[in-house]
Amino acid sequence: MPANLFEIAESCLYASSVEAKLEATEQAARIYREKGFSVDDHSLPKPASEVCFPEHPKLVDPKHLPRRKLTTAAGQIAFLHAIAHIEFTAIQLAWDMVYRFRGMPPAFYDDWLEVAIEEAFHFSLLRGRLRDFDADYGQFPAHRGLWELAEDTAHDVKARLALVPRVMEARGLDVTPSMIAKLDAVGDDSTANILKIILRDEVGHVARGTRWFQYVCNEQGVDPMAEYFSLVERYLRGAVRGPFNTELRRAAGFTDFELERLEAMATESPARIE
Ligand SMILES: [Fe+2]
Ligand SMILES: [Fe+2]
Repeated sequence: MPANLFEIAESCLYASSVEAKLEATEQAARIYREKGFSVDDHSLPKPASEVCFPEHPKLVDPKHLPRRKLTTAAGQIAFLHAIAHIEFTAIQLAWDMVYRFRGMPPAFYDDWLEVAIEEAFHFSLLRGRLRDFDADYGQFPAHRGLWELAEDTAHDVKARLALVPRVMEARGLDVTPSMIAKLDAVGDDSTANILKIILRDEVGHVARGTRWFQYVCNEQGVDPMAEYFSLVERYLRGAVRGPFNTELRRAAGFTDFELERLEAMATESPARIE
């Protein structure tokens, strides 16, 4: 009997250590390559509010996080730690997309499992780079807010797709190119190259978000564009941050109409590094 995808998703999400989560993701990648999963749904998902985060890093308000000045080693480490935390949370977000929303077509589960595998790869690249500086993930506090949208949208796949890949991950497309430019300017090619890999993959994550958001809207007979803005209004109260990377967002499925409307709503908020 093939392994059940929801069981392995649960074993990842509700494990308390970083290692156990990475191991579950690696095991899933192996099974996916070798024989594939069953998506028989015979138990209800546990609540999103009980998904486990490891004891370290401590999760704090972003104003208590260290400064990320790329011209000092301490700042480089703080920067790498912050990005590693985003990728760590992204592993959880991708697995939660797989786990929580039952009854979707098989290709939906393949897509988000592939995303979880790529997020674990991104995390491992950044963790390796932290170790080059004799640092590790968990030794500094990290941003508390990144899981909040997952909890807010746990009851609604359409809202999750709008708010996580098409707002949070899409924001990565906007801010990562300037981070790469800053890393190039200070001569940190190793980190710049990792961010280039991440940026390439993240276009694909947002594109999957677009594809499945449109699918759910079509199933429900609602207009995807109107629905997207009504969800952004409802969950973010319109607090959209720009400027936008229109080229990469277009590649990830944003329409010109969406981009124009986002521009009109946005407040300018550049990447938080120096
Ligand atoms: Fe990622
Ligand atoms: Fe991603």
